[in-house]
Amino acid sequence: MNEVSIASDLSKNPVGVAVVGCGYWGPNLIRNFSAGPASRVVALCDQNEATLNRVGALAPTARKTRDFLTLLTDPAVEAVAIATPVGTHAALATAALEAGKHVLVEKPLATSEREAAKLVRLAEHVGRTLMVDHTFLYSAPIRKIKELIDAGELGEIFYLDSVRINLGLFQNDVNVLWDLAPHDLSIVDYLLGRSPIALTATGACHTRGGLEDMAYLHLDFGEGLLASFHVNWLSPVKVRHLIVAGSKKSLVYNDLNPWEPVKVYDRGITIDETTEARRGVLIGYRTGDIWSPHMEPEEPLRNVVRHFAECVRTGRRPLSDGEAGLRVVRILDAAQRSIESGGARITL
Ligand SMILES: NC(=O)c1ccc[n+]([C@@H]2O[C@H](COP(=O)([O-])OP(=O)(O)OC[C@H]3O[C@@H](n4cnc5c(N)ncnc54)[C@H](O)[C@@H]3O)[C@@H](O)[C@H]2O)c1
Repeated sequence: MNEVSIASDLSKNPVGVAVVGCGYWGPNLIRNFSAGPASRVVALCDQNEATLNRVGALAPTARKTRDFLTLLTDPAVEAVAIATPVGTHAALATAALEAGKHVLVEKPLATSEREAAKLVRLAEHVGRTLMVDHTFLYSAPIRKIKELIDAGELGEIFYLDSVRINLGLFQNDVNVLWDLAPHDLSIVDYLLGRSPIALTATGACHTRGGLEDMAYLHLDFGEGLLASFHVNWLSPVKVRHLIVAGSKKSLVYNDLNPWEPVKVYDRGITIDETTEARRGVLIGYRTGDIWSPHMEPEEPLRNVVRHFAECVRTGRRPLSDGEAGLRVVRILDAAQRSIESGGARITL
């Protein structure tokens, strides 16, 4: 089936979706699933009556319920989108898959590698789509960066350096690593298409709750390829920067610059291999042009919900499938162990 016929087929038979968890992020899912044409919102579920009433107008014809289990026997609900606190993801997704529903889960997929792996196996067993909302994979800047890396524009990748800090919204059930790093880990997993061999992480908590509000994570991919992440809810300024440095060129992605989010720098070092140079200075510097690829502004979540609906209808594997969710959770799980052991190196 080509893209045009998939699109027309989907609009004739949109996927019936129930959105569970209508707090901060849920309304964004409701709005995008309602926009169609590939999906329609048939039910909304939140434990909190006031929240349910507040978001009701976003999907006026959808059934509203506080009881998640009643959704599972409703034939109009083909798929469930889960935007509840992280600690509830595994139980809700398991129940939905066991009831034969397709599932889109917010990041991170689960709170442990064991839970995430069980979900992947279950989805495989029941033959239903399991997708994780790794939103950035569906954004124009990340797609462009992937294109540049795959085309060899940057050469050999030397390192990635990511900073995601601001005066953040403190979460009750997860620390800053589990809240923010899934974005960066899913991006790096997608861009590199390989998994790290080891990691170290440190973090600290400055409140009574015991959950880390700042963390540093370092991934070692072997062969000199390193990736470093700083996530922080205590920063006075908001920074969303990713540097991808290569042997030919490097780029900087600034998520806070909607007009020129990606800048490619034709800058780097040159190594003089001649015998004379080997006795003296070996390193030279190359400074060339800086350019910014053009990108049409778009809402990544629109692409997420559309891709999910297409995968449900066609049986295709989502780009951010359960396995991708598991890879991210595996790193988070190991990073948590490293933090708890004072920054020990963990082999993966
Ligand atoms: N993809 C992104 O960019 C992005 C951004 C923000 C949040 N998120 C993710 O979305 C999820 C929710 O985060 P949030 O900030 O919206 O949280 P939130 O606390 O604002 O909302 C969660 C809602 O879930 C409801 N809820 C809890 N347990 C429930 C249950 N068993 N059944 C029905 N409803 C239940 C709560 O009443 C609440 O309204 C998290 O996994 C978070 O990581 C993703």
